[in-house]
Amino acid sequence: MKEIAIYLIIKKYRPSLMVETGVANGISTYFILKAMHENKIGKLISIDYPNYNKKGYVNEDGKPDMVFIPAGKEPGWIVPIELGDRFSVMIGKSADILPKLDVIPDIFYHDSDHSYTNMKFELEWAYTHVKKRGLIMADDTNTNNAWAEFVASKNVKRLRLPISAAIKQ
Ligand SMILES: C[S@@+](CC[C@H](N)C(=O)[O-])C[C@H]1O[C@@H](n2cnc3c(N)ncnc32)[C@H](O)[C@@H]1O
Repeated sequence: MKEIAIYLIIKKYRPSLMVETGVANGISTYFILKAMHENKIGKLISIDYPNYNKKGYVNEDGKPDMVFIPAGKEPGWIVPIELGDRFSVMIGKSADILPKLDVIPDIFYHDSDHSYTNMKFELEWAYTHVKKRGLIMADDTNTNNAWAEFVASKNVKRLRLPISAAIKQ
């Protein structure tokens, strides 16, 4: 459901540039790139700090996340080769990579470490960098208060979708 919503959002908004955090095997990445491919426009920059431990990993809040990538595979490995020309992956923690990224995306999507500190940091980065009327989205926003505080404190318009989304005003 979440991935279908993402696919339809990309089809509608036709972003030229999107930044995504949290790739893992590449399910959301695939739906973003498929929509961009059909739109014939769009580049995706994805950031992932991959986890190869089959027992998952513990986020900055000490909470478990069961996502892992099989040994020998890279983040986004399920993305078919024909979609790859619109896609670049940056490996590392979003807190280290985003501050060095000098871009103005049309859309930002958070799905990496869902700790309060990391979500707050990424959403601040997104609000500063996304273009005016750009879209900011996040998954698992019920994990902590970061999304609720973000939409309450920023000049954004919330969208009612199967995924948390808001337009920067
Ligand atoms: C929930 S999964 C992403 C799922 C993916 N969007 C999908 O649709 O399949 C979270 C991913 O973020 C990675 N990750 C964890 N902490 C991170 C961080 N600080 N910065 C970037 N990626 C991180 C994890 O290793 C994992 O690959």
